[in-house]
Amino acid sequence: MTAPYCALAACAVLAAGGAGGQAHAAAAVRVHPLRWPQLASPVPADPGLEERVERLLTRMTPEQKVGQLIQADIGSISPDDLRHYPLGSVLNGGNSWPNDDEFAAASEWLQLADRFYEAATAAGGIAALWATDAVHGHDHVVGATIFPHNIGLGAAHDPELVRRIGEITALEVRVTGLDWVLAPTVAVARDERWGRTYESYSGDPQLVSAYAAAMVTGLQGEPGSAQFLDGAHVLATPKHFLGDGATRGGRDQGDSTVSEGELIAVAAAGYVGALRAGAQAVMVSYSSWHGVRMHGNRALLTDVLKGRMGFDGLLLGDWDGHAQLPGCSPVACAAALDAGLDVLMAPGGWRELHANTLRMAQSGAIPAARLDDAVRRVLRVKLRAHLDREGPPSARPFAGRYELLGSAEHRAVARQAVRESLVLLKNPHQLLPLSPSANVLVAGDAADSIPRQSGGWTIDWQGTLTGKQGFAHGESIYAAVAARVAAGGGTATLSPGGAFTHRPDVAIVVFGEHPYAEGAGDLATLEYSPGDKHDLELLRRLRAQHVPVVSVFLSGRPLAVGAELAASDSFVAAWLPGPEGGGVADVLFRSAAGEVQYDFRGRLPFPWPRSPRPAPGAAPLFAAGFGLSYRPNPPPPPPRRDRSSTPRRG
Ligand code: BGC
Ligand code: BGC
Repeated sequence: MTAPYCALAACAVLAAGGAGGQAHAAAAVRVHPLRWPQLASPVPADPGLEERVERLLTRMTPEQKVGQLIQADIGSISPDDLRHYPLGSVLNGGNSWPNDDEFAAASEWLQLADRFYEAATAAGGIAALWATDAVHGHDHVVGATIFPHNIGLGAAHDPELVRRIGEITALEVRVTGLDWVLAPTVAVARDERWGRTYESYSGDPQLVSAYAAAMVTGLQGEPGSAQFLDGAHVLATPKHFLGDGATRGGRDQGDSTVSEGELIAVAAAGYVGALRAGAQAVMVSYSSWHGVRMHGNRALLTDVLKGRMGFDGLLLGDWDGHAQLPGCSPVACAAALDAGLDVLMAPGGWRELHANTLRMAQSGAIPAARLDDAVRRVLRVKLRAHLDREGPPSARPFAGRYELLGSAEHRAVARQAVRESLVLLKNPHQLLPLSPSANVLVAGDAADSIPRQSGGWTIDWQGTLTGKQGFAHGESIYAAVAARVAAGGGTATLSPGGAFTHRPDVAIVVFGEHPYAEGAGDLATLEYSPGDKHDLELLRRLRAQHVPVVSVFLSGRPLAVGAELAASDSFVAAWLPGPEGGGVADVLFRSAAGEVQYDFRGRLPFPWPRSPRPAPGAAPLFAAGFGLSYRPNPPPPPPRRDRSSTPRRG
């Protein structure tokens, strides 16, 4: 029981994995599976299904088996390729769309899904899965409902809302014929300089765990019910296992040196929630733990996740993540499979990877038992998702129901999420809520920009490719304010630079970060906009002209904005709310009758820094959980617990 786990074979992998000769690493990377939460899948055992898996397995050629372990990007594989390379799945990466067109119509997605299906099943093979990130709605499809990024949802503290968002996302993905989502990100970001902080719900592991359960339940349906993975649901993939948010300095794909205890208590929390909700796939992190790339960490992948934590689904690598292992390349890597990956995401190198993996399987470099185990997991997930019975994508229940994409009902939920995500940081003179009969100047370079509201992972990877044409609906914050005051008898004037001829009653200034994704968003310090202080100058200029200023700050994370705060009368952290700018106006303004319709209920999901380089342990400017409301002492929100997040025995 207490014998050091490193006495087992896994230690060899860890040691070989490139601790870089650091003497301390070998001791620190010791993994003790018995310390980890012991979980059992809530998906009921199904001997009939397992039998079908075995039957399929015995009929498969080595080429077909190896094919199931490889996922290619649609930018480099055509449906016809599947006739010769029987791959188990495809994905559209951040910059891939049908026909290489970022504005591809929803019908083009569905047609392409059908073609992949036909090619994969032509020779009696099992259908291929198609995965898409869909990290805030079906975010690569023009016209789909786009929700606030995770950090804003974290501010809302509302698991039921998150479950509903998962349900809507699944349905919209199904409309376009896809069946697998590479979400939710369940990272617990520890250093907000990380470019993926906005994909993290919160710094609170308990909230991340509850949200992970809620999102997985929304996406996949309730395990054991008839809805589980039915035609309205998709496979979910909590990511990135493990410690992606715990790297030193918040470096994307960096190294985490936290203790095993902290890994369990913090980084793993989201997986506990997700696995208790029956997540069928998990994506491995690019990051390392004590110098060992997670893609090669057999102790954590196999002994902990698949063993102790009872995960019987499929373990997916990240985008060429296997290539970063010592001795591996994008097109050859036995070590990742050996460590426990079941599917390698090989966006461009899939053809050679297939040939090389086949050779390694035939030579025994990949043991037959490991190969079969990986294939079995892929098949198990496919059969649980009814892939052998569903027929072509376009024949499935919600396929082609394009009116569901961005439907009024779905967008109303996105707008609700925006309202709930807003955090009021400053309002000493009750400038907010505003009267809709006011004359409002709307300023700031993000005031009339849906792309700025939406951030990365929106239509394209970095969120920088498209302008307005990427959005079939939605409103900029300016447009939403204009609609609100037009109905209330006021006026709204857009002037990004803040110029006016008649002094307005109030200025709403919308500014903040520009879109980014992954490492492109990593920062050296938490200073907002170093070297370019034009927003601050705008705020100061307006104040000097005696115009009261409401700042609406768009950002993927809390940043040091002391000067901007001081130069604002009221200050709202709006995160990356997405296209439903109406949710911002709902909270900023009273009704035409003078009533507060929606109070602020967002509370900080992370502490807000006082300075760009906070010393460890230094008090933040605002603690996590902070947020003002119009009503003096709002009753605390009733404790809401997602059912699937309540601990289960056994
Ligand atoms: C990201 C993953 C994503 C994948 C496919 C990778 O770079 O780390 O989160 O699922 O790309 O787009
Ligand atoms: C892809 C993303 C991927 C990234 C990884 C991009 O070209 O579009 O999906 O996450 O590369 O580096």
